[in-house]
Amino acid sequence: MDKNKISSVFKIPTCFLLGILLSLIFIKPLTAETFSLPGDYLVISIPKKTEYLTRLRQYPLDYLMEWNDQIYLVVSPAELQLLQELNIPYAPENLESRESTPDSFTIQTSLNGAYHSYAELETELFTLEKANLEICRLENLGQSVEGRNIYALKISDNPYLEENEPGIVFLGCHHAREWISVEVPLLLAKYLVENYNLDSSIQNLVNQSEIWIIPLVNPDGLEFSIYFYRYWRKNRRNLGHGLFGVDLNRNYSYQWGLDNIGSSPDPSSNVYRGTSPFSEPETRAIQTFMELHPNIKALISYHSYGQVILYPWGYTDEPSPQDDLLSFLASSMSQKMEAVDGSKYTFGQSGASLYLTNGDTTDWALGVYGIPAFTIELPP
Ligand code: ARG
Ligand code: ZN
Repeated sequence: MDKNKISSVFKIPTCFLLGILLSLIFIKPLTAETFSLPGDYLVISIPKKTEYLTRLRQYPLDYLMEWNDQIYLVVSPAELQLLQELNIPYAPENLESRESTPDSFTIQTSLNGAYHSYAELETELFTLEKANLEICRLENLGQSVEGRNIYALKISDNPYLEENEPGIVFLGCHHAREWISVEVPLLLAKYLVENYNLDSSIQNLVNQSEIWIIPLVNPDGLEFSIYFYRYWRKNRRNLGHGLFGVDLNRNYSYQWGLDNIGSSPDPSSNVYRGTSPFSEPETRAIQTFMELHPNIKALISYHSYGQVILYPWGYTDEPSPQDDLLSFLASSMSQKMEAVDGSKYTFGQSGASLYLTNGDTTDWALGVYGIPAFTIELPP
């Protein structure tokens, strides 16, 4: 073969390879950076002291968790500066590196370990329904910003009939990073289904009520927190200017945007409330669901981390007219939970606890539908 021929054969592939190499160098790979934002945010801890908390209460902040007399926040550079101005001592945290390596008992099956991704949850729900058609019905309530389904599993006898029975709804994962809040409602669904034929008290409960499980209100956020940025909180609404996300637990209508303390009008904030009540398809799906099921008589929304049961109002520290009932119910829940394995959940009105919120799920459930509603903060 002559030399020229060889080089001409190699010319095109060489150019092609070079092109790929150059684009690898100059085009940014699809990482969290490409989506701007998260890199600038920091996780910090603050000693849980009243004098600090009262100062912090004046501002809309992203509380990551409350644990061992420390408050953990996710803060932007501007919020960090605010803390300095307020004279609040803080320590930077590197929580990921603190995590112990998984022991042999940890089920590590995918990127988010034993927790469910969107696709894994979807499979579980389909399987659960298929194996228990007499008491299960899986519904799609609508789609997220990026087009993922928001599933609701109904558990009751005659699941295809709207019977004249009281309903209750359990919600999980308004906040992307709170992976455990998907698992608890899902485990509850499995527990009810698996014990239906074994335990007559469960059978009676299921037969006499309509139990709805909506384990993943924010599927886009969950996926983002699995693949790109662990501390993501909001949904994935594109807000322009490289900013993303509305805090779904500030987007409900009751007292929405009442002040700039319980939520933020700033799109870069982690507690951004959106442009209007129910501006987001995820919260709208929950609203439509409630409108379609007027028999729903109670609501529980799972979050993390704390170990606390909270009830409305969240927008004020003034008690609601139903305070006595809510406090009684929260106290009985706490006692029943302690009886199971000794874990102590404290309880109280959410607006009188660490911080204020407006536009949250439970204020809306009580304020608009008049039903008892609770936020359960699960432990880390
Ligand atoms: N952690 C949840 C949130 O930030 C629930 C808040 C409950 N309300 C409250 N005022 N603390 O949305
Ligand atoms: Zn939350």
